[in-house]
Formats: sequence, structure tokens, C-alpha cells
Amino acid sequence: MRMNSSRPRQSGKKQLQKIRLRYLAHKDIRRFSRTASFSVFDDGYEQVVSRIMYNVHALEKGLARNSDARLGFGRKALSNLNDALVVYRSRDYDTSAFAYVEGLSVIRRYEEFHRKQEFDVPFLPEVIDEEFRRTDRPAAAAGTKTVRRSDKENNRDKSFYALAQGRSSVREFSGHPIDTGKVMNALRNAEKTPSVCNRQGWRAYWTEDKQLAAQVLAHQRGFGYAEMPEVLLAITVSNNTFLSPVERNEAFVDGGLFAMSVLYGLEHEGLAAVPLNAMMYYRDQRAVRRLLDIDDSEMIIMFIAVGDFPPESVVPISDRKPAETFVRRR
Ligand SMILES: Cc1cc2nc3c(=O)[nH]c(=O)nc-3n(C[C@H](O)[C@H](O)[C@H](O)COP(=O)(O)O)c2cc1C
Repeated sequence: MRMNSSRPRQSGKKQLQKIRLRYLAHKDIRRFSRTASFSVFDDGYEQVVSRIMYNVHALEKGLARNSDARLGFGRKALSNLNDALVVYRSRDYDTSAFAYVEGLSVIRRYEEFHRKQEFDVPFLPEVIDEEFRRTDRPAAAAGTKTVRRSDKENNRDKSFYALAQGRSSVREFSGHPIDTGKVMNALRNAEKTPSVCNRQGWRAYWTEDKQLAAQVLAHQRGFGYAEMPEVLLAITVSNNTFLSPVERNEAFVDGGLFAMSVLYGLEHEGLAAVPLNAMMYYRDQRAVRRLLDIDDSEMIIMFIAVGDFPPESVVPISDRKPAETFVRRR
């Protein structure tokens, strides 16, 4: 059969690609280490804002525990939030801006929550500056909200924007079985996800075995609930589908888009779901690969836990910053 490439030429090109890959990966590492938020003391605006939001989210998650509220939780998150707020204030950043108001609001919600439970949090004055505990300021929507199963019943009839605006991550499921055909419908719809040059390198590892899910999520370390989902998906993208060093991060882009399609599909089907990060240490990642039989060539993008909506579920508000703040017109 006619072959247009020659092995020596391809081998030479392969060596060159490996050198280019190392160069680009090195640049990636340099950019990340220069610009990520590794120390609160060196933070610029966006870094300190991200630190605030990270800790706001941690506290909202603690406030949202439905079945096992842990009174006096979150000392570390409060302490880190305080420090980020102190740095924010010391830089004279806008104190009416989204993240700062979210930070103050979640502290207020935290205090209200414990006051309601008549629980005195002894460490609060030790870790939160008096300034951040004042109640005479407008509060944002930080805290928790209730997601109701009844609101999901007509999800199939909702407009796309109504569906998207109504979706929230739900981490505590009813424990009742779900129609797994609906999960398959969401995956079938996600076939249509765009991918770079239509490579479609995704896979969805699927388990309904709750023991296996518990083992996987123990390595994932970011779920934190005893009740396992009815279906746990692990979304991966195969590096085998990429041809060039400039595509080295494309698995995360295609996989992220694919996962979002799945999430919207699940919402459309009236199923509760939460995306779960795959930012695992090497040992955990290796264990997950073994448990789910995921090949080394595949990048694990994220997990998606799927279950039945309970009648009511308290969830983090996870308030969003307005589009006007992130649009950059040029
Ligand atoms: C890639 C990714 C990883 C996530 N990982 C976790 C996780 O490990 N644990 C968790 O409880 N939520 C996780 N989430 C859910 C986010 O906390 C949630 O999407 C965010 O707060 C926005 O809230 P919403 O989904 O309710 O709109 C993750 C979301 C994404 C997109």
C-alpha cells in the first residue's frame, strides 16, 4: 500500500516535537508559578479575590450540610478568609466589589447559622478581625439556598437559559434509584460537544457500584458525603487523539466542554448532579486509574456524581460575578 511518510522523517519529527513539548511545558510551568496565588502576602488583586472566593465556597459548603451539620466547622477557611480580606483592605481595593462583599457576607451567615443553633464558636474572635464581623454593611447573597425537586419537574420544558440559570450542584441525593437511561440520554446529547478538529477524545467511565464509587471518591477527596451517587461518571480525554505539542492542554478544554454538556443534559433530564475535580495527587490518581481501569494515555478531567433530587436540598449559593466585570472590550 502506498505510504507517503517515511519512518526516518517521522522519527526526526517526533524528536523535534518532544523538544518543543518540553519547551512549551516549561513555559507553562513558569507562567503558572509566576501568576498563581501561592502566598497571600504576594497576592495581587485577582489572586486575593480568588483566595476570598475559595474560602467563601468552603464555608458555604459547610453551611449547606443537610444531614450532618458540623457546628464550629471551618476554622481554617475562616482564618484564611480573614487573611485574604486583610490583604485586600491593606491594598485599598474597592470594598464594594463582589468578592469583598461575598467574604464579609459569608462571615455574617456563619455567625447567624451558629447563633440560630445557639452554638458559641469560641475561636471566632481569634481568627476573624473585629472589622469583618460588623453587621452594619450591606450583605451579598453569600450563604445557602434550597433546591427543590418540585422545581425540576418541568425541566424538559424549560428554555435553555432558564435551565442553565436553574442548575445548581447538588451533593446530597435522595438515595432513591434513578432511571439510568436518562444519564445515557445526557451522554448521547453530549456527543454533539465541539472538540478540537472534531477529535472527540472523551470517554465516560460509569459505575453504579456504590462501593466502587466510595473507593474512587475517597481518592478524589472533594466529595465528603457518606451517601453515594446512583451513578458516578469519570470523564477522561485520551492524549492519543493529539498530534502536536501545542495541543498538550487540549484534553482539558475538550473534556471540560464535554462535561458541561453532560451536566446540562442531566439537568434537562431532572437529575441531580455535581461535578467533582480530578486534581489528585499522583498516588490517588494511580489508584483511581486502577479502580476504574483507565489507561495511562487518558487525562482524567473530572468526575460527575449523579443521583435523585431529594424533596429539598440546601446548597451553597455560589453567587456569580456579573458579566460586565469580566468582559474586556478591545
Ligand atoms: C471542575 C470542577 C470541579 C469541582 N470539584 C468539586 C469538588 O471536588 N467538590 C464539590 O463539592 N464541588 C465541586 N465542584 C462544584 C463547584 O463547587 C460548583 O460548580 C461551583 O461552586 C458553582 O456552583 P453551582 O455548580 O451550584 O452553580 C466542582 C466544579 C467544577 C466545574
